[in-house]
Amino acid sequence: MPTPVLASTRAELASLLDAHRGAGRRVGLVPTMGALHDGHASLMRVARDQVGDGPVVVSIFVNPLQFGEGEDLDRYPRTLEADLAVCEREGVDVVFAPAVEEMYPGGAGPRDPDMTTVQPGGLADLLEGASRPGHFRGVLTVVAKLFGLVRPDVAVFGQKDYQQLALITRMSADLCLGIEVIGAETQREPDGLALSSRNRYLSDGDRAAALALSRALRAAQERAAYGVPAARWAAMSVLKSEPGVELDYLALRAADLGDLPDHPEAGTVGRILLAAKVGTTRLIDNMELRFS
Ligand code: PAF
Repeated sequence: MPTPVLASTRAELASLLDAHRGAGRRVGLVPTMGALHDGHASLMRVARDQVGDGPVVVSIFVNPLQFGEGEDLDRYPRTLEADLAVCEREGVDVVFAPAVEEMYPGGAGPRDPDMTTVQPGGLADLLEGASRPGHFRGVLTVVAKLFGLVRPDVAVFGQKDYQQLALITRMSADLCLGIEVIGAETQREPDGLALSSRNRYLSDGDRAAALALSRALRAAQERAAYGVPAARWAAMSVLKSEPGVELDYLALRAADLGDLPDHPEAGTVGRILLAAKVGTTRLIDNMELRFS
């Protein structure tokens, strides 16, 4: 059978996975919205390491429920042929690429007011959740559906969407789903730009301006030894010096996204996270902070 096998219905997916499960193999899932890049490829490699000769499943689904009014649902890149080539290169076994009606059956689709959805905890109201109300309800609902359809042993998500990763980890634990959620490191261009499907919207000028994001995060890392206000100030001065960046938020939080005191105990690991508009494109990025 050619690799990967493409399943577009839930029934096709189930029959492909039954054979593997019958043989007692571990199943790995990498949920994506497509427009795959090297960051996604690295998630597939992490999944492969986890499941050995078990199947790695990549889902490709642009989930309408996680996009708000006026967001980029319609223009989000859909590049199935190129995505299949990435999956083939990475030795993915199954690509699940359903239509919207397959994931949200019934006439009303993803906006069905009677549909059961996953309501995230308070962590979803901060940061991305404050700027994009309802976004994480949409993310957790579709990820729960994918977990139900694939029933993976392990699922791999990128740390670039750090808050999403934290919420999915909590969902798996809180709802006793029994799925190990792994966060894989953010992949970057040599000049520091975090890989993102949305980078393809950037003009050359936008792309140059967008480098201020990773520069700001690195500046904060370098000042973390002096405490949270110093680290924040270092990041802000980089961002303010780049007129092409319109900052949405910059936050320094504990690793679990809880509050941080101004001067955390030595050894504390935190996170600095930001979102900004560059041209017409909204980008997010984050890095670890080590306080000494
Ligand atoms: O990170 C993404 O690409 C999406 O939010 C996800 C997890 C695939 C859910 O649609």
